[in-house]
Amino acid sequence: MTSKQRIVEETKKLFQDKYNKNPEVISISPGRINIIGEHVDYNLGLSMPAAINKYLCVAISKNKQKKINGYSQTLNDSFSNDYMLNNDNRLWVKYVHGSILESLNKSNYDKGFDIVINSSIPMGKGISSSAALEISIVLSINKIFNLKMNNNDIIKKCQSVDHNHINIQSGVLDQSACLLSKKKSIFTIDFYNMNIEYLKYNLKNIKWILIDSNIRRELASSKYHERVNECKKALELLSLDNNEIKSFRDLNINTAKKISILPSKLKKRVVHVVSENDRVAKMKEAIKKESIRTMGDLLIKSHESLRDNYEVSCTEIDKMINFSKTIKGWIGGRIMGGGFGGATINLVELGYEDSFVDKLSIFYKKKFGLNCDMLDLSFVDGAETIYNNSLN
Ligand code: GLA
Repeated sequence: MTSKQRIVEETKKLFQDKYNKNPEVISISPGRINIIGEHVDYNLGLSMPAAINKYLCVAISKNKQKKINGYSQTLNDSFSNDYMLNNDNRLWVKYVHGSILESLNKSNYDKGFDIVINSSIPMGKGISSSAALEISIVLSINKIFNLKMNNNDIIKKCQSVDHNHINIQSGVLDQSACLLSKKKSIFTIDFYNMNIEYLKYNLKNIKWILIDSNIRRELASSKYHERVNECKKALELLSLDNNEIKSFRDLNINTAKKISILPSKLKKRVVHVVSENDRVAKMKEAIKKESIRTMGDLLIKSHESLRDNYEVSCTEIDKMINFSKTIKGWIGGRIMGGGFGGATINLVELGYEDSFVDKLSIFYKKKFGLNCDMLDLSFVDGAETIYNNSLN
């Protein structure tokens, strides 16, 4: 039995034990990484994410009580709240409630749901356990009520959960990655038009390794909004100056002159976005040509831009990346996700994974007194509804 099948079976059993009936639907979503293309989704840029072999599974059924009853096996926590009342302050409850309310937006369903959540995606590590939760619930509701939402509708609903219930003005990178990924592939996503291009991924002599810095991302949401607003401001100023500029995609790295009108901080933000889009395009070519060195260099350049232009890194991770440069077998790496802590994604030559992690761990412990945990990655299919018992 695969780890995915195991978690589905376990969740079904938990649901049966808890509610004395079968679930109507079981949906499962992987977590995600992002190879490159950071802080570009809400700027209509390009990213290259992939779903990974860690899963969150949701079993769900309608009830007649006008209540949402939820149980998280992972947190060993539960709730039972009125269907329309969303005033529980626990974050996971807000995600569950928000995902249901957003999915059923205009419906007049006024009963409730019984839910069990079971996850192997480590939380707070920047691999999108929350997007996996949103996606699994929205997929389930879509199935139960036959709402006929397509992938883009589902992704948009999840984004509304972030915006309206969690108060994070995020883009759609995380949800797109969790939903649209394909096994043994990576893909580029163009947030300008939601175009997707899948790349078969056959590189055998390298490994992607995630390193968790164990730095909690305390400032992440306020600083995230600061960056979103800085980019909005920069675009506003650029389009006032030249009404042909409607998004940063109307700029490229050769039209730097146009951004000279901006205050220096905003200029740096735009330089990151424009150069990061360029790096995503170059990464795609490098992967196709199997140019491992170029892939590594692009990761390092991305890190430098996130550190210096976008200013979303932190000392511990900068030191980690600098030290990695001295470790044999390390090809490149960068801070991943929203930033201000969290994880780094690293490209390592096959055979050097263990020595890389050992050396980095010793350095990190000595320097900061912290452990750095590693996750070995493989790329898997996106979220799906796996069990549908419509006879319930
Ligand atoms: C977080 C957000 C995403 C994206 C990344 C940065 O993960 O949820 O929408 O903006 O940060 O690339």
